Amino acid sequence: MKFFIDTANLDEIREAASIGILDGVTTNPTLLAKEKGKGDFRTILKKICELVDGPVSAEVIAMDAEGMVKEAEDLAKLHKNIVIKIPMCKEGLKAIRMLDAKGIQTNCTLIFSPIQALLAAKAGASFVSPFVGRLDDASHVGMDLIEDIATIFENYDICTEIIVASVRNPLHVVEAALIGADIATIPFKVIEQLTKHPLTDIGIKNFLEDWKKVDK
Ligand code: E4P
Repeated sequence: MKFFIDTANLDEIREAASIGILDGVTTNPTLLAKEKGKGDFRTILKKICELVDGPVSAEVIAMDAEGMVKEAEDLAKLHKNIVIKIPMCKEGLKAIRMLDAKGIQTNCTLIFSPIQALLAAKAGASFVSPFVGRLDDASHVGMDLIEDIATIFENYDICTEIIVASVRNPLHVVEAALIGADIATIPFKVIEQLTKHPLTDIGIKNFLEDWKKVDK
């Protein structure tokens, strides 16, 4: 499974990239808004692309297909690794189709049902982003959606990649891997949690203590 980081914060991306497990980055307007005061969004996106050699999702704001395509074309000029995030809606599907014809990769975001994922794949999306955490928040089992999409994509040999998004905790990442999702996009805090286990911490502490007793 590929690991993306879900942030626009350069320090977090730099730190996660230094671990050597990062395959890509996803941003959205909310994540870019958190970086207010640190430079315009185009500069931030370009810097992200310099830090990580993999897909970097940047989202359009227009709500009509022509507007989405225009924004997408501008964003795609920033770097060869930019993937255009398009919200799931009728105009979004039209834009995905048009961008696919132009050879521009898309990530269809805000997916909350299996059929939305199938529609996005049929339109030509390179990635779909089902939001598990937000479904859990609304008392649905978010991971059920990932299982359903994975089954449908397998049934029809669909090569659109599933990005498990809105990840809230390490269990989401484990479940995504067990299902066989292509990618999980993970907030920095959760990436840090993934490295930890209380028994590992105790084990390291004990080994260091015992090392002091070893004849040197
Ligand atoms: C996905 O690409 C989104 O940026 C993100 O995962 C949304 O997560 P949230 O529900 O925590 O805002």
